[in-house]
This record gives sequence, structure tokens and C-alpha cells, in this order.
Amino acid sequence: MTSSHKRFLSAYFTLPPISLCARGSDAWKQVFPFTEPGGAWTFSGRVALFAGLRQIQLPVGSTVLVPSYFQGTEIDTLIAAGYKLRFYAIDDNFEVDLADVEQKLDDNVSALYIIHYFGLPQRLGVISAFCQQKGIRLIEDCALSFLSKEGDTWLGSRGDVSLFSIYKSVALPHGGYVVTKNPTQPPELQSPPLFSTLLQTADLVAQHVRSASAHGIINRLWNRTNDLRKGIADKTVVSGTITLDQKTLCYSASKVVPRLMRLNDPHWVIERRRANFALLHSRLRHLSALPVETLAEGACPLFYPIYVENKPRFRAELMRRGVGSVNLWSQPHSASPCEKWGSVAKWRSTILELPIHQQLDGDDVERVAREILHLTRRTSAPKPAAKSAVSAAG
Ligand SMILES: Cc1ncc(COP(=O)(O)O)c(C=O)c1O
Repeated sequence: MTSSHKRFLSAYFTLPPISLCARGSDAWKQVFPFTEPGGAWTFSGRVALFAGLRQIQLPVGSTVLVPSYFQGTEIDTLIAAGYKLRFYAIDDNFEVDLADVEQKLDDNVSALYIIHYFGLPQRLGVISAFCQQKGIRLIEDCALSFLSKEGDTWLGSRGDVSLFSIYKSVALPHGGYVVTKNPTQPPELQSPPLFSTLLQTADLVAQHVRSASAHGIINRLWNRTNDLRKGIADKTVVSGTITLDQKTLCYSASKVVPRLMRLNDPHWVIERRRANFALLHSRLRHLSALPVETLAEGACPLFYPIYVENKPRFRAELMRRGVGSVNLWSQPHSASPCEKWGSVAKWRSTILELPIHQQLDGDDVERVAREILHLTRRTSAPKPAAKSAVSAAG
């Protein structure tokens, strides 16, 4: 039996307490977006978006074209910042449907908002040329695509505003990052409450301890204290909520965040995620939501998405078998007429994101694959979208 059989394989990485004693290195400072002169830390991705729009002075009251498949907090943030929204189609390769975007243009449209789904790149060259030609700004949502590239081009390097949710990719209590072209002024943000930072850092450490003892007392204790932990979190501001808490919009990242970044070697993160993705893809390709044969050069995915039937039940069974997963974006938003977008409704109800993060090794990934195959043996998954000539990853 490998160690991977004993521990809980969490959907996100955790923070081993021992790593807090390590000195780490400044390697993270040498990679995009931290190399950009106009970049700044924020509390989260949504704060990065809000601050970035102010920085480029995108006219308030103008219309932003937004994709029909989205998380929800980016939509709430755009509305809170004073923009009108118009939705455009995403095709079955999870790519921006530029023909539909073109139809949605009018004189009030000031920007096109794109999301790099699952950390995989949209066609940046074509899209940024389109925006230039139409005289509109490009907003790149890299919440899921920190450290990802399209070939040699970093995702986030083409947008007039690009937002990152760094804490989704590496172990941080919170932390977004904003990069803008020609910022007129730096964002005026204040440090978040210390209690918030301590609470969420302790949570990352506790999850590590919990994952090491999946079926033990710590895990039971963890589940029993759900309400207590939620009650404590409600007393402060926290990152990662599914609704927008406007109180967070004035916060930058704590000074602890750049220190914790030292524990991450970005090149190793990229290497592991790519290797884990490739291994899982070789085992679960028939269930994959992604119409790609291989992972495109430069892409650094955050998750491995598969189609499952009865997502909540499947997820609960997978959890019982010691594997975490992420149920991204299952809820529609009142601002979007969901029924109009056939594929979106299907994606929301059937796509489950599997972990491929940097703390998993090959044995762990094999175990994830085995558990999925075990659970799907009796159920037939919905057919993946038809493959097309242009892959979602480039
Ligand atoms: C596509 C997308 N954009 C923006 C956000 C907001 O990021 P954050 O949670 O860091 O505020 C999220 C969060 O999940 C997201 O998935």
C-alpha cells in the first residue's frame, strides 16, 4: 500500500505545518504576473477585477459583454462596479463564440470579458485583435489560470485588465492579483484584518492534518465543527465565498501572502499540474469534458473536468472513498437567462472538477482515476461534446 491509500486526497492543496519553517525562495517573483510593473496584490480575484476597472477608468454605465458560462462573483462584481451586462455564447469547446460576440456589439459596449476555463487558454491572439479592431477593452479573467500560457504567451498578458485568484493555485489564506495596461493610478487598498488572515491560514494547516487522517477522529471532529467554523468565519472577511461580500472590496493581501509565496516553486507547480493532468487524461479521457487529445504547450490547468450523472451524489460517494472534488459553478445567476444557453445548463449540472494539484503524485492520481472508474462502472456518463478541429487548449 502506498501512502496515497491512507490519506484523503483533497480537492485543493493544503499547508503542511512543517513548511511554515522553510525559508523558501524568491523564484515566484520572476514569473508573470509578478514581473509586471502595473501589477498589485488584492484580497481576491473579485477585488482585483473591481480595482482594475477603476484603474483603467472603464466608463461606468457602459456595457460589458460577458460569457454565458461563469462562476457568479465576477458577474456580481461587474454589476456592483456599475456596468450593464450582455451575455454571449460559449461553444462546445469552451471557447468564446466571436460570431455571437460580434452580434452583441453596439455603441455602449466598452469591453469584452473572457474566462480561461479550467486554466486552459482562450485564443488570445484572435480575441485581442478582435477587441482592437472593434475599439473595445479586453478583460481577461485568469481566476483559474495563474501560471498558464498559450504557447509562449502568459494568460493575462493581453488584457487591459487581468485578474488572478492566486490562492486557488497555491496555498495562501487569500490573494488576488491585478494587472492593467496603462494604469492611471495604483489601487487604493488596505490590509485585511489580521484575524481573517490567521483564520484562513490556520484552516489551510488544519486541512492538511485532516487529509492525513481521512477516516480518523480528526476528520470526524472536522465535520462536527462545520457550523462552529462557519460562525467564526462569518465574524470576519474571508476569501472564496460563492457570493460577493462588498466589505472585501477595499482589501489588498496581507504581508503574510508574499512570505507564503516563497514556499512555492512556480516551475514545479506547472510541471506537476501538467503531469497530473496528462496522467488523468490517459485514464479518464472517455469521461472528460474537454475536447482535447493532449494538453497544449504552456497550458497549466487547475482541475480535470469530467461529466458525471447525479453530481451531488457522485461527489458525496467520491468523498466517502477519500477523494475530494470541486463542484464549480452549478448555480445559475439571476442576471443570466440560463435556459437560453443549452450547453451551459448541462455543464452546470454535470461537470465535476477533479484534483490535479501539485501536492498529488502519480500514485495519488492513479488512485483518483481508479475511484472514478469504480464509481462510473454502473452509471453511463453523458456523452462528451463532439470534438472539433480547434481544441479548447489552443
Ligand atoms: C471565473 C472566476 N472569476 C472570478 C472569480 C472570483 O475570484 P475570487 O474568488 O478570488 O474572488 C472566480 C472565483 O471562483 C471565478 O471562478
